[in-house]
Order: sequence, then C-alpha cells, then structure tokens
Amino acid sequence: MLYAMAEEAPVSVAFRGVTKRFGELEVLRGIDLDVRPGEVLALLGPSGGGKSTLLRLINGLEVRDGGSLRVLDTDVPLGPPAATPGDPFWTALRRRIGFVFQAFHLYPHKTALDNVALAPIRVEGEEPEAARTRARALLERVGLASKADAWPRQLSGGQQQRVAIARALAMEPEILLFDEPTSALDPEMSAEVIDVMRDLAAQHERTLIVVTHEFGFAREGADRAAFLEHGRILEVGPASEVLERPQHERTRAFFERVL
Ligand SMILES: Nc1ncnc2c1ncn2[C@@H]1O[C@H](COP(=O)(O)OP(=O)(O)OP(=O)(O)O)[C@@H](O)[C@H]1O
Ligand SMILES: [Mg+2]
Repeated sequence: MLYAMAEEAPVSVAFRGVTKRFGELEVLRGIDLDVRPGEVLALLGPSGGGKSTLLRLINGLEVRDGGSLRVLDTDVPLGPPAATPGDPFWTALRRRIGFVFQAFHLYPHKTALDNVALAPIRVEGEEPEAARTRARALLERVGLASKADAWPRQLSGGQQQRVAIARALAMEPEILLFDEPTSALDPEMSAEVIDVMRDLAAQHERTLIVVTHEFGFAREGADRAAFLEHGRILEVGPASEVLERPQHERTRAFFERVL
C-alpha cells in the first residue's frame, strides 16, 4: 500500500533504466531520474556525455531504445520516430513543454512581440489582441518591454534569447527545458539571461531542467543538480552539495577542470 502511494507521487518526468544509442554509440546507459513538479534541476557534465539527448527525449525529439519514460503523467511509448509532424501524441504533449535552445531561432520577419504571440494565436487559437497583451507582459518580465516592436536583427544575442524565453513562456508550459541557453553569449549578455532564469527558478511555477555550464546559476538557482558523463548519472543531489562537495571523483575532476 505504502509502495503504491510512493509510486503515485507526482512527477513531471520519470526516467527508469532509459537507454539510447546512435548506431554503435551508447549515448545513455540506464538513466534513472525523477523530476518533481516545480523543481529546478541543473544538468551538468562534459561534452558528449548525453545531456542534450536526455533533454530531447523528454519532448520527443529523440526516441529511447529501452527503459521507461513518463512525462507529465503520460507514459511515452517507444516509437514511432518522435518528431513526425502531426503525430497526435507528441502534438498534445509538446504543447505542455517548452524548449529553449542555445541558438534562439527567432522568426526573422516577425517583431519581438509577434515572435512571442505567434504560437498562442496559431497553435492555441488565442484571440490575437489577448495574445499580444500577454506577449507584452512577458516581454516586460524578461526586461524587454521597450523592444516589443524591434526586429530580431536589431536585438543583441542576449535580448534575442530573452525573447525566445518569453516565447516559450507564452505557451504556459508545465515543463521548460533549457539546453545551454547562454553558451553562445558573451558574459554580459549571459548575465542578463541568467537573471531571467533565476527569476523563473525562484517562482517554482513550472518544472525547469537546465543544461548549463553556469555553475553560479546551478548552485544558487537550482534545487538539485545531476552530473552526467558517458551516458550515466554519476551523481545527483541538492545543487549546493553536488557543486560544493561532489562525492564522485569524476564530478570533482570535472569541476576542477572547468573552474
Ligand atoms: N543524431 C545523432 N547521431 C549520432 N550521434 C549523435 C547524435 N546526437 C548526438 N550524438 C552523439 O551522442 C553523444 C551525446 O551527445 P549529446 O549531444 O547528448 O551530448 P551533450 O552532453 O549534450 O554534449 P555537449 O555538452 O557538447 O552539448 C555524442 O557523442 C554525440 O556525438
Ligand atoms: Mg548538448
């Protein structure tokens, strides 16, 4: 009975023994990980360790080979290839998941405001004026109220990334995934984006999973941190502990190398 109750504890994402390979290459080798609603998880680790692949499984940009994956109370099936356009399963689930990439991919021929308002209008059928009003508020939230009518090419990299975050928020996702959102930015622009992420993290309105090399954000903004190397989670725990007192020799070596 107790066991059954524990099984039903709410999770945003639950990986159990998840494996993924690309040809001969085993990229994920048995991932077990639970992320709770409203939790902020920082995903750290060396290049090629499988961080992006792990994120991409959550919104169906990749399909695992084995193990089970639960996303927002939905069991994710093993096939078909995830990103099939129009696939009803992923279309429904993806509406609830936002993704912010390293490269911001704004629509170049839409203003900042319309970049944010577009999906709610097109995908959700929101009334355009209402969507634009919300978009304005979201731009204000990311510190860009004055740039609503700017074109992407008129914005700095950091500003474009903040528009991309506002655009993801416009769909009111329950899970927001970030894949190295600041690694294409210089330190000053990174700082602006990190401020926005800290604000989002502090609100705990939604689940955040953040792949990042920004250890300051990970330590202070995240609830937990996981260290992923060669397709395995070597260490996961409270962010301050993992970052300040890593237990695993490989984790320590990684932090020493990059800091
Ligand atoms: N579509 C693909 N086809 C073949 N191999 C791939 C593919 N995507 C990723 N890989 C390989 O899988 C491994 C894990 O890649 P992944 O992008 O998940 O790593 P990562 O931890 O995000 O690295 P980085 O920090 O450099 O972004 C790498 O060896 C990569 O080359
Ligand atoms: Mg990556």
